[in-house]
Amino acid sequence: MGSREATVLASTVVRVSPSSMPDICDLILDDHELFRRRFAELDDELHSEPSVVGALWQPLAEHLERHASAEEEVFYPQLLERVDDGEHETHHAVRDHNKIRDALRKVAATEPGSDAWWEAVGAANEENSDHMAEEERGPLSAFRRHAGQEIRKELGARFVAFNAEHAGGRELDTDDVDPDEYIEDHTSAQARAASSSTPRVRGDEESEVDMKRAQAGE
Ligand SMILES: [Fe+2]
Ligand SMILES: [Fe+2]
Repeated sequence: MGSREATVLASTVVRVSPSSMPDICDLILDDHELFRRRFAELDDELHSEPSVVGALWQPLAEHLERHASAEEEVFYPQLLERVDDGEHETHHAVRDHNKIRDALRKVAATEPGSDAWWEAVGAANEENSDHMAEEERGPLSAFRRHAGQEIRKELGARFVAFNAEHAGGRELDTDDVDPDEYIEDHTSAQARAASSSTPRVRGDEESEVDMKRAQAGE
């Protein structure tokens, strides 16, 4: 690998320092607030051109998909580990995420700006609004009460890293997630041991190693 390619590769490494991150609960709430605002902005465009409403919808749909996946990757495994009623809450949330994914597919199957499209967007808004309200009352509230600042910031760093890695929907798996399998996968002792022994946050030190390897052409 030439030095220029190595430099390009090195510059793509995401540098995340957990100590400077907001906590995961705040990041999730921020996303929820953004979703409410984006759906409200769409309401203002009821009589706008299809290209306008389509352009507003596309990034919102992508963010909704990514948000659900980020929560399943970063937040819910820790809820399962730290909160007594975590299994019930997580099962419910994964089912809700699948309903949101289904609602997004229905929007994608219609023409932007058509009556069917607006109806499907309204249904997606309803599914998402219901889920966010329940998530804020249940899992997020419970996590604030049971998890300390250190883990919440570490998870915040991982949440940011996940979003950077899958920005724009890049390599994001949007298939439904089986809630039973999800619980099983994340509650087995083996899964817990694996996740605790494998660092999933790419901190500054790791990034430095990546950069040196890239520069050396490895
Ligand atoms: Fe969620
Ligand atoms: Fe959420």
